Amino acid sequence: MNSQLLCTNAQCRATYSIEDVLYTCPACGALLEADYPGMSLEPAATKRLWRERRMNNTPIDQSGVWRYREMLGFVDTASHCAVTLREGNTPLLAAPRAAQYGGLDALVFKHQGFNPTGSFKDNGMTCGATQALRLGMQRVACVSTGNTSASMAAYASAAGLTPIIFLPHGNISYGKLAQALEYGALTLQVEANFDQILALVRVLADETGIYLLNSVNPFRIEGQKTIMVEMLDQRDWRVPDWVVVPGGNLGNISAFGKGFRELLRMGFVDRLPRFAVIQAEGSAPFEAYFHARGEFVPVTEPETLATAIRIGDPVSWPKAIQVIDDSNGVVGKVTEQEIADAKAVIGQCGIGCEPASAATLAGIRKLTAAGVMAPDADVVAILTGNVLKDPDYIYKYHTGQLKTPSQAPIAPTFGNMPLVVPNDPAKIAALLAERVPASR
Ligand code: F0G
Repeated sequence: MNSQLLCTNAQCRATYSIEDVLYTCPACGALLEADYPGMSLEPAATKRLWRERRMNNTPIDQSGVWRYREMLGFVDTASHCAVTLREGNTPLLAAPRAAQYGGLDALVFKHQGFNPTGSFKDNGMTCGATQALRLGMQRVACVSTGNTSASMAAYASAAGLTPIIFLPHGNISYGKLAQALEYGALTLQVEANFDQILALVRVLADETGIYLLNSVNPFRIEGQKTIMVEMLDQRDWRVPDWVVVPGGNLGNISAFGKGFRELLRMGFVDRLPRFAVIQAEGSAPFEAYFHARGEFVPVTEPETLATAIRIGDPVSWPKAIQVIDDSNGVVGKVTEQEIADAKAVIGQCGIGCEPASAATLAGIRKLTAAGVMAPDADVVAILTGNVLKDPDYIYKYHTGQLKTPSQAPIAPTFGNMPLVVPNDPAKIAALLAERVPASR
């Protein structure tokens, strides 16, 4: 397939070879995207092919990303080996209790935490690592609030590449840091925040020839767009009314928009869903921009316990606002208390997620209360990370010890305190009779 890198700035539109090592446009500085001039797939036959591939045992057909490889024309998988850990294949989970909490009749989560390293980053990293190999790169790097680094470390090591990771010291969960160490990455904890380190690493990557696998990398976005393709495949191609997603660096929403744009153009769907991006109150520059427009004003000291989205200067905001505007979407923000409570409710559904992911349900609750989202709307919320990514947060919430970054206590509204009991059957039986009486 004919593939190129295309500048996303409508005034520039410069194109470059798909094999150039570029993240931004040398002419104007805007972000680049993979582009496939003339890409045209026959919807009915292609949908059938994608569905049939689920029955095959080959690694690329088992991958919930490469199964849709007709939309990933930047690499020819017949001649280049895709680096896959069987990413994607993430379920749609109905969650009546969360729906009720969110003010909806029904709600479905697409749980990206079911990925091999526990987050949606795997959908993108399989493509980023594949492109790194194809370009003959040896060292790959990323700055991360945790999940990108866990994913990058795994995919780079699986591919025989050398992963180098830059983390904001003291502001990532242990679950994520542990993954980076276990998967063998050189791990540098920098005394700066995510935005500062990303600026640093972009310079370093250019100077040292290390391949950057942050979401500025256009091939990461290619993989992440298949989250929407898989969701539609799982829904027999019914477009939901809303897709709700947490927003940090805004790569995911950009990818979702690109996926839908391509599917719409080729006739796979006849409309876009409305997209809702939800940010944490202390790290919400995109929410502010959505309402005020004018200049984009970064948050210089972003704060939130949802460390995955503790980002004040999201690089992909120009792509993201386009997606929001094209889809008649909205951007909301939620407090630390709202995130914590929504997360506990998602847990009570037997589903669970990490803090950033719970911003979706907290945002839905606000959008229904404000009358923006109708109670009978068909809504898919994206849970971006696994419940075990941040156990420290969970323990503190349930035991009433969780505090906001400014040290205000967070109430354990749905707290579930573990109880210490003596080694005494009679006393334990009495406690059970009181706390969880038999119904018959
Ligand atoms: N949810 C989780 C669990 C994340 O890890 C991230 C981003 C987001 C949401 C936000 O997605 O950046 O595409 O808007 N984590 C990045 C990282 C920044 O380094 O792992 P986004």
